[in-house]
Amino acid sequence: MYFRQIGPAMNIRYRPFHHADTDAVLALWDEVRAAGHEPVYSLAEVLGSCEKDHAVVAYDDSGITGIAVGRAAHEQGWIVFFAVFARCQSQGIGRTLLANLEESMAKGGLTKVSVLVNDSQSQTGVLEKSGFAHRRHLNYFEREIPISDKERAILNDVGGRLLPRDLWDRIAGMGDEKQVLERRLVLPLSDAGLAEQFGVRPPQAIMLFGPPGTGKTTFAKAVASRLNWPFVEIFASRLAGEPGGIANGLRETFNRVAELDNVVVFIDEVEEIAARRAGDPPSPTQGVTNELLKLIPAFREKPGRLLMCATNFVTALDPAFLRHGRFDYVVPIGLPDSAARWAIWQRYIPPSAAAQIDISALVDRTDGFTPADIEFAARKASQRALESAVYGGATDVNGPTTADYVWAIGETRSTVSAEVLAQFESEISAMART
Ligand SMILES: Nc1ncnc2c1ncn2[C@@H]1O[C@H](COP(=O)(O)OP(=O)(O)O)[C@@H](O)[C@H]1O
Ligand SMILES: [Mg+2]
Repeated sequence: MYFRQIGPAMNIRYRPFHHADTDAVLALWDEVRAAGHEPVYSLAEVLGSCEKDHAVVAYDDSGITGIAVGRAAHEQGWIVFFAVFARCQSQGIGRTLLANLEESMAKGGLTKVSVLVNDSQSQTGVLEKSGFAHRRHLNYFEREIPISDKERAILNDVGGRLLPRDLWDRIAGMGDEKQVLERRLVLPLSDAGLAEQFGVRPPQAIMLFGPPGTGKTTFAKAVASRLNWPFVEIFASRLAGEPGGIANGLRETFNRVAELDNVVVFIDEVEEIAARRAGDPPSPTQGVTNELLKLIPAFREKPGRLLMCATNFVTALDPAFLRHGRFDYVVPIGLPDSAARWAIWQRYIPPSAAAQIDISALVDRTDGFTPADIEFAARKASQRALESAVYGGATDVNGPTTADYVWAIGETRSTVSAEVLAQFESEISAMART
């Protein structure tokens, strides 16, 4: 291969990358980073392209002085790494490297070569001298693909999935609960390095409890979405149908899930499989409870995964289950206060109708409602308003009115009775651990 020479440094020569140049690439990589210029492509990508795509090195008698690495696909080629050792700069090496790389890549029918550089990169002058136009109006976006192909297959097996990214933001109100979960779970799990620096051991299992419809399932999914970890929900009723029964199904699922780097495992209505051990002879779920008691410590052995359980009946749980060492936190999810109800109402009132609605009246009338009750009432109001607009011959109606909502609230029975609420308050003082 003919290699071009530009500029004065006649003792510098150019040739394609050889595997033996890898150490020099690593040294250059380190030098670039030490100078504060974070490369755009990862080291693995760069080394991959050195071996498989296009890479040109400059060298003199003392060794490698610079490198340019690129990949060409279809008509547009990308330069994935380009650097010259600081001690060799200003000898025209950069320009020659770029010219040689372009020549190497051009064979595939290339019509354009592009480079992404970090804002902090100082030597972009070389690019301009080499005829690269600076496209100032472009911005760079990237997204991590959180799971590999192999993990995707496991997720399919166990019925897990990645959830949409915005579930956390879609939870209206519930500020206290959000704060607890954000601080105790999301913070240490999403930044394990920082947690370690402060001696915080990231939690691995948490129990959510509270009356039905308060948002326990919603929160479990939102935490997984927030962490961007796959979400695997275990349904006791489904496992019951499997050949080995629930205990076996649980064990299998936990085994499969152990192969994932990160995962949130969720067991809803966990009291069904971890009820207080009582009676003689022991109840049929006894074996299942024992199995789960064994599985949790094993699950806790590897970082990067979180077991979330939810129950409406925390007092029905086997006491051994809640003992320290299994669940890091036992978090109550309660009824929304007025600020939370305000936010929840706003979530369900169509924006075009919001101006004509007396939200504070709705908030006052729904003291004691769960988010699910509010959602139910809001749907009912919308449905009634829609029907009367279409079939009732009303003109200039542009959505539900306060009267529709007040009517629907009257038609909605709150899920949580005064007794259940009182019971929940006493459970909070007896069982909560946050
Ligand atoms: N904070 C909230 N904001 C808006 N909707 C909510 C909120 N919490 C719960 N919901 C809605 O209420 C319903 C019941 O919530 P869910 O999480 O299933 O309750 P739980 O698991 O505690 O019984 C769901 O439709 C959910 O979307
Ligand atoms: Mg639920």
